[in-house]
Amino acid sequence: MFLKSLLRKKPLESLIHNKSESIHLKKMLGAMDLIFLGVGAIVGTGIFILPGTIAALHSGPAIVISFVIAAIVCAFAALCYSEFSSSVPVAGSAYTYGYVIFGELIAWLLGWALLLEYGLAVASVASGWSSYFQSLLSGFNIHIPTAISGAFNPEAGTYVNIPAIAIVAIIAYLLTRGIRESTRVNAFMVILKISVILLFILVGAFYVKPDNWQPFMPFGFSGVLNGAALVFFAYLGFDAVSSAAEEVKNPQKNMPIGIIGSLLVCTVLYIAVSIVLTGIVSYQDLNVADPVAFALQIIHQDWIAGIVSLGAVVGMITVILVMLYGGTRLIYAMGRDGLLPRSMAKIDEKTNVPIKSTWAYSVVIMFFAGVVPLNRLAELVNMGTLFAFMMVSIGIIFLRRNKTITNRGFKTPFYPVLPIISFVMCVFLITRLSAETWIACGIWFVFGLIWYFTYGRKHSLLNK
Ligand code: ALA
Repeated sequence: MFLKSLLRKKPLESLIHNKSESIHLKKMLGAMDLIFLGVGAIVGTGIFILPGTIAALHSGPAIVISFVIAAIVCAFAALCYSEFSSSVPVAGSAYTYGYVIFGELIAWLLGWALLLEYGLAVASVASGWSSYFQSLLSGFNIHIPTAISGAFNPEAGTYVNIPAIAIVAIIAYLLTRGIRESTRVNAFMVILKISVILLFILVGAFYVKPDNWQPFMPFGFSGVLNGAALVFFAYLGFDAVSSAAEEVKNPQKNMPIGIIGSLLVCTVLYIAVSIVLTGIVSYQDLNVADPVAFALQIIHQDWIAGIVSLGAVVGMITVILVMLYGGTRLIYAMGRDGLLPRSMAKIDEKTNVPIKSTWAYSVVIMFFAGVVPLNRLAELVNMGTLFAFMMVSIGIIFLRRNKTITNRGFKTPFYPVLPIISFVMCVFLITRLSAETWIACGIWFVFGLIWYFTYGRKHSLLNK
C-alpha cells in the first residue's frame, strides 16, 4: 500500500485533455525559431566565464576536448528529451515525464532536482553577470564598493553581491508583470550575443600564439574529463527547448532539428572561443571572473573588450529570464499537483502570472546569488541537471514499454543502445564532480525527501 502510493502515476490522458492542467498554446514555432530559442537559453556565463577558470584549473588548452565531450553527452540526452516531448507534449519537462513514467516519488525528486538546476543556474548566471557588469562600469571609471561587489569571501573583502541580487530582482519583477519573452526580442538578443562572440573570435584570432597551447593537457586526461563535467553547464538550456513542445509546428521533425541545431551552433562557438582564448593568454592566467574581456585587454583591444562585455551583459539576461521563468512554472506545477502548498499555484487574474511562486522562488535565488561563491554554484547545477538527464534517458525504455502511451512522433534512434549510453555517460560525469558537490546535493535531496514524506505525499492531488 505504502509502496504503491509512492509509485502512483499521473494518467497521461488527464494531462493532455484537462484544460485546467495545461494551457494549450497555438502551434507557431518552426525549426529556426527553436534554434534561436535554444541558443538564447544556452549561451550565457558558460561561454563568457567558464572557459577561463576551467582551463586554468582543470583542462588547460585541452578545454576544447572538454567542450566536445560535454556536447556529446548533451546531444544524446537531447535526443531522449525529443522523444519525451513528442510522446508527452505537455508542460513541466522532466518532472511531468517522471510523473507519467516513474510515479510520484521519482517525479518529486526530479522536480526537486530541476528546482536546483534552474535556481542555481539563475544565481550563478546572475553572479557572472555581475562580474561583467562591473568590468563594464570600470571602463567608465565607476567602481562599486568592494564589500558589496562579490559573494561572501571576507579574505577578499567582499560580503554580498548587490548587482547579482539586483538583476534577479529586476527580472523577477518583469516576470510578475506578465512579460513573456517573445521570439522576436529573443532573436534580437541572440543575434547580439552571437555577434560579440564572433567579434571576439575574429579579433582574437590575430593575436593567437600557438606556444600558449603547450602543454596541451597539463592536468592529464583526467583533468579534461573533470573539465567536461564542469563545462557541461555551458550547454544547459536546451532542455528549455523541449518544454516548448506544445507550441511547435510538426514537432516530430522540428523538435530534433531545433534541439540538435542549437546544440550544434553552440558547440561550434564554444570550441572556437576556447581555442582563441587559450591561444591569446596562457591558461595559467585565465582564472579570472571575466576571461574573454580580460584576454582582449591583454592584447590592448580595450574598445572591443568593452563591446564584448556589453554584449555579454545583455546576453546573459535572457538566460536569467528563461531559467527563472522555467523555475517559477515548475513551482507552479508542483503546487498545482499538491506537492508544494497550493498557494504556489495561485494565478494573478490580471497578469495571468503565478506571482506568489515567482517571488518565493526569486527571493531564495537572490540569497544564493548574493552570498555563495560562483564556482560552487555551477557544480551543483550540473549535478541536478545530470540527474534529470539520467532519468529522462533511462525513462525512454520505460516509455517504450508503456503501452498506454502512443507516440507517432520522434523516436530516439538506436534504441535501446543510445538511451543506455546516454544514461551511463551522465552517471560517469556525475562521478567526476567534486565530493563537496556530492555532499551538498545529498543534503538537498534529504530535505526534498523530508518535505515529501511530511507534506507532499499527504497533500498530493493523487491522494484523493
Ligand atoms: N548555459 C547557460 C549558461 O552558460 C546556463 O549561462
